Formats: sequence, C-alpha cells, structure tokens
Amino acid sequence: MSEIQITQVSVPEDVIHLGIGQPDENLLPVDKMALAASHCLNPKNRKILQYGRQQGDGNFRTSLARFLTHEYDVTVNPEHLFITAGTSQALDLICALFTRPGDTIIVEEPSYFLALHIFADYQLNIIGTPIDHDGLIIEALEERLEKYKPAFVYTIPVFHNPAGVTLSAARREHLIRLSQKHDFMIVADEVYQLLAYTRTPPPPLATNDSSGRVLSLGSFSKILAPGLRLGWIQADPALIKRFLIRGYLNSGGGLNPFVSSVVNSMIELGLQKEHLHHLRNVYRERIQAMSQALRLKMPFLKFSEPHGGYFLWCQLPDDVDAEDLLAIAETHKTGFQPGVRFSSENALHNYLRLSFAYYATDKLVQGVERLRHIYQ
Ligand SMILES: Cc1ncc(COP(=O)(O)O)c(C=O)c1O
Repeated sequence: MSEIQITQVSVPEDVIHLGIGQPDENLLPVDKMALAASHCLNPKNRKILQYGRQQGDGNFRTSLARFLTHEYDVTVNPEHLFITAGTSQALDLICALFTRPGDTIIVEEPSYFLALHIFADYQLNIIGTPIDHDGLIIEALEERLEKYKPAFVYTIPVFHNPAGVTLSAARREHLIRLSQKHDFMIVADEVYQLLAYTRTPPPPLATNDSSGRVLSLGSFSKILAPGLRLGWIQADPALIKRFLIRGYLNSGGGLNPFVSSVVNSMIELGLQKEHLHHLRNVYRERIQAMSQALRLKMPFLKFSEPHGGYFLWCQLPDDVDAEDLLAIAETHKTGFQPGVRFSSENALHNYLRLSFAYYATDKLVQGVERLRHIYQ
C-alpha cells in the first residue's frame, strides 16, 4: 500500500536532497506547541474559537509587537501589524490589492522562485534587477524605475533567498527615497530577518519608513513551524487599512485566529524566544559544517558564508549549466536547486542553491560527499 502523503515535500529515506528549503522536522517544536495550546485552550478563553478580528487578534498583535520590539531593538506598534496566513498568502493578497494584469513589477535577479510563481498567477510583467553582496544595486534599479514605472519592487532585503545577502543600511534609505520619487510600493520579504547567526542585520524596512509605501512581510514559518500558516505585515496604518476592506476578511474574519492564540501563548510563555535561540545555535553550526565540507570537497564552487537565513548560493565555472548536473546528483541520491529557477530572465545557469535547514550536520556533510561527484 502506498504511504499517505501529508507534507508538501517528501524525500525517500536514502536521499539527501540539499535543495529543500524547509525546516528539519526534528526542529519542529511539538512539545512547546502542546504546552502553548493547553495554556490557551480553556473555557475562559472561548473567544479564540470565534471568527477573528480582521486585522488580527488584538492580544496577539500586542504580544507580537512586544516580541518584535525586543528582537529588532526598534519599537513596533501593534497598530502597524496585520496578521496574515504566512508570507505566500500575503504576497498573493498584495498582488490582488495593488496590481492589475499586465502591470509591471521589479524583482531581484535572483529572486525567490515561488514568489515568481505567485506574480505569474496575477499576469504581472516581471522585470529583474541585479544584486551584489550588499543587495539591490541602486543605480541599476533606478534605470529600470525610469523605464518601467512598476507597481511595486519585490525585495528580499535580509538573508536573501537564494543569495544569502543583506541590503545595506545606506541602500535601504536610498530605496525608500526612490519609492517616493517614483511612486512605487516596496514589498520587503523578510522571512529570514530573525534567523541571524553571526551578524545582526538592520531592522525591517518598515521600521524606518517615512514614505508610507513599505510592506514588511514576516512569518512564523521559519522561526516556529510552516504548518501554522501564520505571519504578519508591518506597515503604516493607512496602508494596513487597505487590507481590511477585503470582502474575504469581512466574510471570514481575520486570518488564522486560533493558531494566533496558540502562538500568542508561545510568546507569552517565553517559548518562542527559547526556540528561536535554539534554532540560531543549530543553524550556525550547520552553516559552518556545510561550508567547511564544501570548501574541502568541492573547491570548484564559489560561495560566501551567509550570516543568517537558510541558504548557500554557489557559483560554478561559467560554462557549466547546473541543470545538466542535476541528473548526476540524482544518481548519487542527492539534489540541489539549479540557479535558473531563481531567475526571471532565464539566466544564472551556472549557479546552484543549497540549504542547511532540512538536515542535521552529519547528513549535510554526507550530502556534500555525494554532491562532489557532479563536477570533476
Ligand atoms: C523568501 C521567502 N519568502 C516566503 C517564503 C514562504 O513563506 P511562508 O511559509 O510564510 O508562506 C519563503 C519560504 O521558503 C521564502 O524563502
């Protein structure tokens, strides 16, 4: 009998697929979640099973704002938060609210490949703009702004997926100034903001926003569990108001109110903080082990060790197409994400993305041992 599928991705036991950008199941905090659930599920708390407030449960937004204020070291106001069902849903909602088919948007080259899929669903015209070790290259962006007049710029300004880089403080200021000058919105996908291991990044773009045009997207997928489908948008209240008028929210109420209550308890009991601390320690060790193995076994790959996030973005020699190497990787029971998947321009063929999130250190090292056969 075939096994019933529960998860989005399932990998055979004997495969070490280094392309998977999801958390290791052993890191999903079942016991802490059970404690939090029993903390909030009691007869005095019946409201948590009711339709929720459109913007998100006020108690949850208050404790989330307190938690974020502590983590970012910058004040976050609960009125600047809108609770989402995760960043993917937030991106879908942003497209529905702020674009029409045929509108142009600008994305980084490379960008998160599944966001590109969401934008394609809305028939948006996607234009890429290059990044370097400090994130978006402002001069290149400015040229494209003049030419294309985009509805928004989609950026992953912190521990970029796939490139691992973080947008510098100076470029952040410049980007916000440009959004005023050229009248576009900034959609900042900051799902890895809190997964900093060796360097603290600048706070989210929305915390320094004087333009009222920035949407900072956060998620519990990477700091707690993706199955919760819970996240938030931080933005100016005038911008948040635009989300609240959707018929969808009027009919169904706020997103994921019950899960919000459980996560509220995770925060109030200090369990979220404890878990985040644990994740940072685990991932920090994994990056080091994987980087060391790659340097030793695959010296032909060029990469920079990231300071946070989930990914290593690796460059192959110019004339090599990573997609051609995937079949070889599969014969060695391993895998990766070829760079072209992150390109809106059918480029980046000589890159590949590896993740250190899905496997423990010993498996990562074993995976690299298998992967080295892709190129001699
Ligand atoms: C850059 C980026 N944005 C969004 C997501 C998905 O976030 P969520 O699970 O909150 O929908 C991911 C997950 O891999 C990601 O890497």
